[in-house]
Amino acid sequence: MKNVRIGIVGLGTVGSGVVRILKEQQALIAQQTGLSFEIVKAIIANPDRERASYLKDVALGTDITQLLQDESIDIIVEVMGSVAAAKDLIEQALAAHKNVVTANKDLIAQYGQELAELAMANNVALRYEASVAGGIPILQILRTAYKADQVHTIAGILNGTTNFILTQMDEQGLTYDQALKAAKEKGFAESDPTNDVDGFDAAYKLAILTKMAFGLSVPQSAIDITGIRELAIDDVKAARAAGYELKLIGLSDLTDEGLRLAVAPMVVHENQPIAQIRNEHNAVLVKSQNIGTALYVGPGAGQLPTGNSVVADLIHVGQTITSNGDVYPFALKVATTQPKPVSGNRSYWVLVATDDPDSLVDNIKLSVAGAVVSNQLTIRGFDPHQAWTSLEVTAPTLVAQPHFTTTMQRLADVKAIYPVLEA
Ligand SMILES: NC(=O)c1ccc[n+]([C@@H]2O[C@H](COP(=O)([O-])OP(=O)(O)OC[C@H]3O[C@@H](n4cnc5c(N)ncnc54)[C@H](OP(=O)(O)O)[C@@H]3O)[C@@H](O)[C@H]2O)c1
Repeated sequence: MKNVRIGIVGLGTVGSGVVRILKEQQALIAQQTGLSFEIVKAIIANPDRERASYLKDVALGTDITQLLQDESIDIIVEVMGSVAAAKDLIEQALAAHKNVVTANKDLIAQYGQELAELAMANNVALRYEASVAGGIPILQILRTAYKADQVHTIAGILNGTTNFILTQMDEQGLTYDQALKAAKEKGFAESDPTNDVDGFDAAYKLAILTKMAFGLSVPQSAIDITGIRELAIDDVKAARAAGYELKLIGLSDLTDEGLRLAVAPMVVHENQPIAQIRNEHNAVLVKSQNIGTALYVGPGAGQLPTGNSVVADLIHVGQTITSNGDVYPFALKVATTQPKPVSGNRSYWVLVATDDPDSLVDNIKLSVAGAVVSNQLTIRGFDPHQAWTSLEVTAPTLVAQPHFTTTMQRLADVKAIYPVLEA
């Protein structure tokens, strides 16, 4: 049995999940890997905080240098959050030739490349499975199952908070503010929900997925980000009445024209599996040359799902240490050229007020060259004095959303316009 010594920084939701799994599943891990994990110490911020009973025998400290200077520690687990302090800690750990496992998406999305290079220079591992889609092992899947496959599209529900809010608006008829309050009460949203509702959290995860899937590093500034703050309950209801679900989608689409990167509310046909992802769950849709379309679904957060992803990384690193294996921190795919950034969408769902749907369709075809209009139906209930028409417009090439919106506003009284996710 090989003993692997770890130090943990942070004993909150994720850190306590890691300890719990390492204790409860010790025999299962040992039986399959021949590894036994020993928690040398956990560093926390508030020593007086009451901790769960399974944490009682973990040695606690408040000084990170205790872990960094302990030469017997093989792996440091960073699960405290924040960017600056965590970056500093991880840099010191890697420079001290310690392997690092983290769940910190903000940090990896912004400084992953830099930290990966530092890890490689010191011949140690840097793993971060828990940073994207909590319990779904999507990074490992992209690293392994897609080695011989060309991925061209990643589309995901990457933020559980916003998916919970949208589900509550749809199912319970709550307004955005009421649904956000419910998310806070259930512990799914923080007191300042900006990172979630404005789409930044999903954009961080999209950047990490883009690196794994395509071997491309993209800064957050390259992603078109629109959050869900401005969504009206009427839009959610209208989309539903027209047979769509409104979802906050992170999209990374490598087309012949270039790379399309966006986080935005989009509609998905209700018969698509990704439309069925409800509440705090996450999903990652991967389209590739060999496999075709695959959807990976699971919990995006939580003590045990996220803790499990961290433990899976620990096992991988433990096996690497014992076999002197390679420690490359990203997928081995490296894009040889940086594709041109492109934006816009091919398909839009539109809800308009019109008394003459037939001439509307003719006018859309005249205004958007080569457009195909489909899924046309009348939606009732918004305004008894007005007829509402729902339809989907698909253009042969990408059309920028502002241009499409202005075009439609010239033709009719627009109630809602959203891109359609071609799932
Ligand atoms: N929660 C999830 O489901 C989830 C999912 C995916 C990724 N993540 C990521 O995982 C990380 C941890 O999240 P979490 O939800 O577990 O956070 P959390 O519950 O707030 O726990 C944070 C822990 O870090 C400790 N800590 C904070 N600042 C510290 C410092 N300067 N020095 C030492 N310890 C410090 C805290 O100590 P005290 O206990 O003494 O306060 C606490 O134990 C974050 O990067 C988060 O984005 C979380």
